[in-house]
Amino acid sequence: MVATVIDGKAVAQAIRSEISDEVRLLSQKYGKVPGLAVVIVGNRKDSQSYVSMKRKACAEVGIKSFDVDLPEQVSEADLVKQVHELNANPDVHGILVQLPLPKHINEEKVLTEISLEKDVDGFHPLNIGKLAMKGREPLFLPCTPKANPLDSENFCNGLDYVKKCVDFDQLLVTKSLLKLCEAASVGIYFTTCMQGCLELLHRNGVSIKGKKAVVVGRSNIVGLPVSMLLLKADATVTIVHSHTSDAERIIREADIVIAAAGQPKMIKGSWIKPGAAVIDVGTNAVDDPSKKSGYRLVGDVDFEEASQVAGWITPVPGGVGPMTVTMLLKNTLEGAKRILE
Ligand code: GUN
Repeated sequence: MVATVIDGKAVAQAIRSEISDEVRLLSQKYGKVPGLAVVIVGNRKDSQSYVSMKRKACAEVGIKSFDVDLPEQVSEADLVKQVHELNANPDVHGILVQLPLPKHINEEKVLTEISLEKDVDGFHPLNIGKLAMKGREPLFLPCTPKANPLDSENFCNGLDYVKKCVDFDQLLVTKSLLKLCEAASVGIYFTTCMQGCLELLHRNGVSIKGKKAVVVGRSNIVGLPVSMLLLKADATVTIVHSHTSDAERIIREADIVIAAAGQPKMIKGSWIKPGAAVIDVGTNAVDDPSKKSGYRLVGDVDFEEASQVAGWITPVPGGVGPMTVTMLLKNTLEGAKRILE
């Protein structure tokens, strides 16, 4: 079998065009466009190139980008102050702090300071936590009887309901109650990379329900959240990681493989079940003297081998990569709609 190569660029382009139309409509209706703040600390080359890609993508679809470039030595307190200012800025609907941050800054602390409604990366621990809560009532939902934490429409109704019931300027306890209710019922953002993987499956007609899915890697950004989302989509999910014995046998049973291990060409063609869908999140630079840059990008999957066996496969580059930025744009649009509409 020769696999269908999933064209992430084409899917991303189609979604970006939908986003562009929606941004135009928002602008006509409310005189406002979605705003995304992209914060970068220091001058790592890779981070700078990701950030400039994100800012450029914003411009292409009409999202206003707020650029915050901070020096490597910025203190954690000053970075948090910046985040608070962006939280308070009504023209900013999404905030992204590019990772990794310099070693003297506590990443988790900074990410936790981003307002949940603006956490377009989906990295806030509460957003990640909500992903794991299928079928569970969030702790503070009684304040918003009808709200489903995974449903943004109900979220808005729920939050409006709470806002009607409380007087903001009354008591401190009332304010903190509102904060807790917001935390409990806020619409969820999925991490952009994981959304990209699922969207690629969805738009290529690969059904997930009842399928055996194997996720290779357990990072906070991809492996863990994508596993939870697949579970929500009714797949039977196994996570393979560096301590798993017999990874090869487990991967060979999968109808869907999500590779996010960060190991170049680790997954061989013989590990893939014939007809499986393979989504390769790996972006590994390997030496290539024939290139001007001296390197080229390869995935975690041996593409040449696996594409002879799989039913669907994403290339690297040109698969998941373009989708991640697109999902960021989509989350920013959703964030703006929640506030403006
Ligand atoms: N660093 C590498 N990927 C990402 C991403 O998706 N978001 C952020 N904020 N930082 C990153």
